[in-house]
Amino acid sequence: MGTQESRQPRQSQDTYEQGRGTGRRALLGAAVLGAGGAVLGLPGAARADEAKSGESGGESGGGYRSLPVPTVIAHRGASGYRPEHTLGSYQLALDMGAHVIEQDLVPTKDGHLVCRHENDITGTTDVASHPEFAGRKTTKVVDGTSITGWFTEDFTLAELKTLRAKERVPGTRQENTLYDGRWEIPTFEEVLRWADREGRKRGKQVWLHVETKHPTYFRKLGLGLEEPLAKLLRKYNRHKKNSPVFLQSFEPTSMQRMSRLVGTPRVVLLWTPDDRPYDFVEAGDPRTVADLITPEGLAWIASYAQGIGPLLDLIIPKDAKGNLTEPTTLVADAHAKGLILHPYTMRNENSFLPADFRKGTDANAYGDVFGAFKVYFDTGIDGIFTDNPDTGLLAHADFVDD
Ligand code: G3P
Ligand code: CA
Repeated sequence: MGTQESRQPRQSQDTYEQGRGTGRRALLGAAVLGAGGAVLGLPGAARADEAKSGESGGESGGGYRSLPVPTVIAHRGASGYRPEHTLGSYQLALDMGAHVIEQDLVPTKDGHLVCRHENDITGTTDVASHPEFAGRKTTKVVDGTSITGWFTEDFTLAELKTLRAKERVPGTRQENTLYDGRWEIPTFEEVLRWADREGRKRGKQVWLHVETKHPTYFRKLGLGLEEPLAKLLRKYNRHKKNSPVFLQSFEPTSMQRMSRLVGTPRVVLLWTPDDRPYDFVEAGDPRTVADLITPEGLAWIASYAQGIGPLLDLIIPKDAKGNLTEPTTLVADAHAKGLILHPYTMRNENSFLPADFRKGTDANAYGDVFGAFKVYFDTGIDGIFTDNPDTGLLAHADFVDD
């Protein structure tokens, strides 16, 4: 039943278990919470030098230090209930009260940034049923992994807009297939407009958490992500250190590049200890994640970023049976360098939970999610990515009430 969280491009052979699609309990609507909750101070150690970007000025918002902690970040929107990275998924997350809403970005052939978890759109769109695009199916090596499918960089935005999004894991989340075909692939600019619109309506800024996917791969294709992203952030006044946006990447150099372009806060994502970020591979830098989570590695990250986004297993490792063990010192070590922690990813289904928080034998049934949230929150993390923001918000409320 256990599942190893995977990241791009490994996730194109997605480890989400397909399961049997049996009915799971629907928590949808169980919690419609505002963005209230505790606001905890961050450690006083020196932070990254936002002034490097020349955008150290703030705006009316209080910046990321004003967010409720632990911050509930809607992973790909409310992707536990809607096809991921659609306006429907983002809207539901916002309506549930998620503190922050995540987008993953990849480019089109004509340089537009669109919201997809990977450039291979085979699993999350209806592209395979479009005969006019049959000839676009191809095999590519992305970050060292060979992948066969259809890729965003081979489509213009106008072409991509003829496709419709669908559920990534229909076996696990059968109910979500109800919405297959309903939404287009959103551009990041559409999301920025939506966030502005919703912010005005609610009298409260809509926070985003924006990941650059495969930045080195795309730069080699002449489709660098960071410059168009910075341009859009400036256009929508989200380029300052107090802007309601986090930037994130598994490739540290992407965050370094963003630090030179905008003041927007940055988070370096970290996968398994033996993983070597792909930009390091290309540059011949021998460091792995294990090196980056040492005090020296964290100090290096803190020189250009405000946080880390570690795999949850880096916070509390699992034993051979998939049960949680003792927390590592990563939370304290990162805080000592002034870095916040936004680990990933909590999901309600048994198959994604630590073994000791599963209930019954149905991989798709919900487990003891609140128990698992509590254990992770108790470590002192500053936020968490979750596919189920309503559940995360209830867990947040329980935690701050304690
Ligand atoms: O960005 C945080 C988390 O989303 C990282 O994993 O593969 O879902 O983008 P992934
Ligand atoms: Ca992501």
